[in-house]
Amino acid sequence: KILILDFGAQYTQLIARRIRELGVYCEIWAWDHDPAEIAAWGAKGIILSGGPESTTEAGSPRAPQQVFDAGVPILGICYGMQTMAAQLGGRVEGGHHREFGYAEVEVVAQCGLLDELKDHAGSPPRLDVWMSHGDRVTALPEGFRATARTASVAIVAMADDARRWYGVQFHPEVTHTKSGEQLLRRFAVDLCGCRTLWTPANIIDDQIARVREQVGDDEVLLGLSGGVDSSVVAALLHRAIGERLTCVFVDTGLLRWQEGDQVMAMFAEHMGVRVIRVDAAERYFAALKGVDEPEAKRKIIGRLFVEIFEEEAAKLRNVKWLAQGTIYPDVIESAGSKTGKAHVIKSHHNVGGLPEHMKLGLVEPLRELFKDEVRRIGVALGLPREMVYRHPFPGPGLGVRILGEVKAEYAELLARADAIFIDELRRSGWYDRTSQAFAVFLPVKSVGVVGDARAYEWVIALRAVETVDFMTAHWAHLPYELLGTVSNRIINELRGVSRVVYDISGKPPATIEWE
Ligand code: XMP
Repeated sequence: KILILDFGAQYTQLIARRIRELGVYCEIWAWDHDPAEIAAWGAKGIILSGGPESTTEAGSPRAPQQVFDAGVPILGICYGMQTMAAQLGGRVEGGHHREFGYAEVEVVAQCGLLDELKDHAGSPPRLDVWMSHGDRVTALPEGFRATARTASVAIVAMADDARRWYGVQFHPEVTHTKSGEQLLRRFAVDLCGCRTLWTPANIIDDQIARVREQVGDDEVLLGLSGGVDSSVVAALLHRAIGERLTCVFVDTGLLRWQEGDQVMAMFAEHMGVRVIRVDAAERYFAALKGVDEPEAKRKIIGRLFVEIFEEEAAKLRNVKWLAQGTIYPDVIESAGSKTGKAHVIKSHHNVGGLPEHMKLGLVEPLRELFKDEVRRIGVALGLPREMVYRHPFPGPGLGVRILGEVKAEYAELLARADAIFIDELRRSGWYDRTSQAFAVFLPVKSVGVVGDARAYEWVIALRAVETVDFMTAHWAHLPYELLGTVSNRIINELRGVSRVVYDISGKPPATIEWE
């Protein structure tokens, strides 16, 4: 296993995902994590990440001495290389100009890390890399050689083959660096000697053994939402403890079209998981009556979920454990916080209000996994691909896609319009080219002509976005023919809708959801 010490770069999680993709287990710890634990963890190699700060400033982060005393290979990336240089007796200077984006680097000396890497014909070997830095190393620490340069920077990579310590100024973890994967494999597998055992099949076997050991003969409760994470937890726990898993699925009436039936068909009927379905639609519509403010709606929906979940949990006397779909990005400690990140309980599964006397222990089998790993083990557990690779769906569901007051009649129209949109996206191959797509119900009436009669009916808006992190997003340039088909189908198949519009707003300033 590899330890990644985080200096706060936005790419740190990407480093971890790339290492995991090689089949090597790794964890991300903050640079100021307890050094004794770093020494004791037994990493076969340590990666120092990039970071936003400058080693030339007083008080900037440093790698603890234990990293250099561990006797294992070290790879410093960007800030990681700079702090290695600064700490080991070299020199780092502030940026005369920033280098950002593509660069071609020339490998000027072979070393254990860059050996065999080459993106262009000819000699010396040259690599296409991605740079993002202001500072640069200007003098090497003792024992190091410069192994790569660009036209403007003399030391773009450094190596000490005797100690197997390496630094690269560029970012091997981003796909723009062509030989990045090869470089990371060279480090983790060849230099550190890690075996590539982190595969979906092994992760599943390992988690099943751990869950069995953790819960023994006890019973476990899980809130199944229909989302990817809780579905994968259900499949995994069912395999681990079978009948001793009970899932509670709350049908809020604000889910996707026929989602409740689909969840029951897949988990209860097909897989034989014990699922208690609570049909709570009427309770939700009653609680939301007359409420049109978005945050108020969110609160009501969230609170009601906890209430219903609690009621069901209270009926199950023998349950000792609560399973949750917490994933690794929820628990990674952030760099620079001595305390680490507080344990996050996902809001939709928020069971903070569970009866105190139940004193449930937590079972979180996905705690070490990134989303892409969760998806891969979901497929390996036999869940359908199209379910595992589904677009995200917000916890409050259609509650925030019906603008203003939520009514049963609106929810049904919206769910059906949404299903038509998604169906056409899948048929045309556009579903996987968008990150999130859905319909929105606008409670305004517009005039139309249906047949010979004048109609005065509701409006449906379509939203489709492309995004990597959901923090910023572009509206998807869906083909006009596709939009036309969707519009025709919605207007023809749904009584009560006579107008369909397409949302062409980016985020920012518009958010992805309308509320
Ligand atoms: P916005 O609308 O903020 O959405 O651009 C960004 C992403 O977050 C999802 N979203 C939510 N998810 N509870 C959730 O679980 C919520 O209240 C909520 N609001 C927005 C949204 O679907 C998008 O993927």
